[in-house]
Amino acid sequence: MYLPENMQISEQGILKISGVSCVDLAKKYATPLLVLDEVQIRDNINKFNEAFIKSGCETFFIAYASKAFLNSEMCKIIDDEEIGLEVVSGGELYIALRNNFPSKKIYFNGNNKLGEEIEMAIKNDVSTIVVDNEEELYKINKISKKYGKKTRILLRIIPKINPNTHKYLSTGQIDSKFGIHSEDLLKVTKNIKGLDNLELNGIHSHIGSQISEPMYYLNLVETFFDSLITLKERENVVLNEIDIGGGFGISHSSNEKSIDIFETINKVVSCVKTLTKKFEYPMPKISIEPGRSIISTAGTTLYTVGSIKKSANKKYIIVDGGMTDNIRPCLYDAKYQVYVANKMKEVENFEKVTIAGRACESGDILIEETSLPRLSVDDLLAIPFTGDYTYSMSSNYNGFLRPAIVLVNEGKHKLITRREVYEDLVTKDITNNIWQTF
Ligand SMILES: Cc1ncc(COP(=O)(O)O)c(C=O)c1O
Repeated sequence: MYLPENMQISEQGILKISGVSCVDLAKKYATPLLVLDEVQIRDNINKFNEAFIKSGCETFFIAYASKAFLNSEMCKIIDDEEIGLEVVSGGELYIALRNNFPSKKIYFNGNNKLGEEIEMAIKNDVSTIVVDNEEELYKINKISKKYGKKTRILLRIIPKINPNTHKYLSTGQIDSKFGIHSEDLLKVTKNIKGLDNLELNGIHSHIGSQISEPMYYLNLVETFFDSLITLKERENVVLNEIDIGGGFGISHSSNEKSIDIFETINKVVSCVKTLTKKFEYPMPKISIEPGRSIISTAGTTLYTVGSIKKSANKKYIIVDGGMTDNIRPCLYDAKYQVYVANKMKEVENFEKVTIAGRACESGDILIEETSLPRLSVDDLLAIPFTGDYTYSMSSNYNGFLRPAIVLVNEGKHKLITRREVYEDLVTKDITNNIWQTF
């Protein structure tokens, strides 16, 4: 059985994460429970830092994509590791600012930023706004003027790259809803020259997620240089930064391939160096926005088996969570592996089962088919690599409560997000009989 490096099996056959027993965690905090391993998060961040340093790149910037997962403790870890944060909404920006995350390390992305969100970003001096479309330029310029500020921007372009990933995870293809067509870049750059409160610093693209080959990032860098050289030759504009986005693929199960971070960053940096030499272009800062590759492997979700059921040709193991705490199998057919956290030493009586959630949807299946030792009600299941896009996409569908999140670190544990309570389901509701008319 493949076991991630941060997990251990006790003599009694209990799964441990960073030295903490999953059975004890489930007893103390109940299930479903998202367990995050702090050491793993920090290791994942360090891998990117080291990769840049080893590649000989002198100016780089890593902004963790908070959409993968963000809460107050995560802000503190990201800040402590001295990297940046990429946000896409006033909500994510609020969480960051509320936790005193340095605004000068925040990049603000999004394909339809609301006026009030842009205002919040500019008022709070975020480092950079990534412009998605031409209309946004005028909005950002106007708001910057109102506050007497000059806002640093990157232009997000559509590089027309199809990175061979799930269609819902592909964002740089020709018909993408994100970014500016590269043909329009010249016109947009000309327009920026007339906007006094904008400072065009560079170009950006996020080609998609679960990218498993460095080649796609190299294609992106080449596309970027086509644009950089055109802007230099035609508009005499020289830019300081290229942002290749996130998307570094990670393996959630044995049939997915993780990208090699060291190889990818090294290849990206040497490709940039080669092109700068070839075109006599100054070396730009290289920015990245990894999300899943920082948080995914740090997360494990614990579930308790609630019922076991045989249908015509399936055996269902139904757990106390599902699509409301992990929508990824429904949304993009994501595949996971699973452990029986209280029976890790079982070697006999394996059978094929389907792990199903408890939502009122036939599609609420966490794992379509897997082989597990014979299970009983109250057994504890652990699905690893569930740190990314699980809690951040969770919902209250069926009135289910969002799980608690606990942080573990070499034998210690602490609650970092409490489990929702029923009262949370009605706190936003208003019940009175005061009708209004226009
Ligand atoms: C603009 C942008 N940057 C970064 C990311 C992070 O991607 P990942 O979590 O796959 O690294 C995303 C994901 O959708 C994105 O849209």
